[in-house]
Amino acid sequence: MRCVLLSEILDLRDHLSSVIDQLGDITFVDHQEGYTANDVQLAVAWHPPGNAFDNYPNLKAVCSIGAGADSILACPSLRDDIDVVRVVDPAQAQMMSGFVLWNVIWHQRRFATYLAQQRDRIWQRPSQRDAKDVPVGILGYGEIGRRVAHDLRMLGFPVSVWSRSEKSTPQGISEFHGPAGLAAMLPETEVLVNLLPLTPETQGILNGALFKRMRHGGYLIHVGRGEHMVEKDVLLALDNGQLSGASLDVFPSEPLDPHHPFWSHPGIIVTPHDACDVSMDAIKATVDATADALRNGRRPSQTVDRVRGY
Ligand code: GLV
Repeated sequence: MRCVLLSEILDLRDHLSSVIDQLGDITFVDHQEGYTANDVQLAVAWHPPGNAFDNYPNLKAVCSIGAGADSILACPSLRDDIDVVRVVDPAQAQMMSGFVLWNVIWHQRRFATYLAQQRDRIWQRPSQRDAKDVPVGILGYGEIGRRVAHDLRMLGFPVSVWSRSEKSTPQGISEFHGPAGLAAMLPETEVLVNLLPLTPETQGILNGALFKRMRHGGYLIHVGRGEHMVEKDVLLALDNGQLSGASLDVFPSEPLDPHHPFWSHPGIIVTPHDACDVSMDAIKATVDATADALRNGRRPSQTVDRVRGY
């Protein structure tokens, strides 16, 4: 089976070298602008070039190398008959959970205050806050959201989750869905964790109107996609005290411009889209299983619902 590598921002051959070495029964080929290849059935992609899919008339499936497939779904040349497959990786969910927990505790235990005090050699104990007094709301309740919600609950935080449609949750995790559910969840939310997929409905969801509905002085942990966030509204909410801080891992334009005000804002922690990667093992398993399904005339699993957008 021939599989083409499609990305305009990553050297996939280099990035996936360990995966390529292990999948000896797949021939990985590089994309060539304007060259039509009829014998390519499979692609691996991350931010593919806009017209990339035009070159592969017999392509049946494209695998993302991440949990999100938004950069593939947004590609103008993607045809309706191509299955888009995403990676589902429990190790990634665990890594994300650690990242989110660290940030929640950063806010709850006032680590910014400790650091400021240390700089000025001040020995002073800020008041401590119990986890039970710091309600966390999670936007997005897929594989990763479930893991994060579970782990936060284990640490004693009150946890609410919100998603587009109704989901069942274990005891102790409050469930909200749809626009009315979001409006009901936010007033009880002090820390908001964004884990949503990027779709036309979720684009710009982290905006001034949403921040106003949260508990005053709340905290934002943004680990979804840059386009979820209205950047100027985040700055405004921090400057007027609506938010007391924000940990931002993803940005509408990456890498973040060196002159961007986020870098030097005292209330913001910037990380370089590094909350969690999928493991190479999970990418390998996904590409392998997809190739296997195509060889056997089956529909691949972990396909994205093209109407829902994730
Ligand atoms: C990372 O951004 C992913 O989609 O896994």
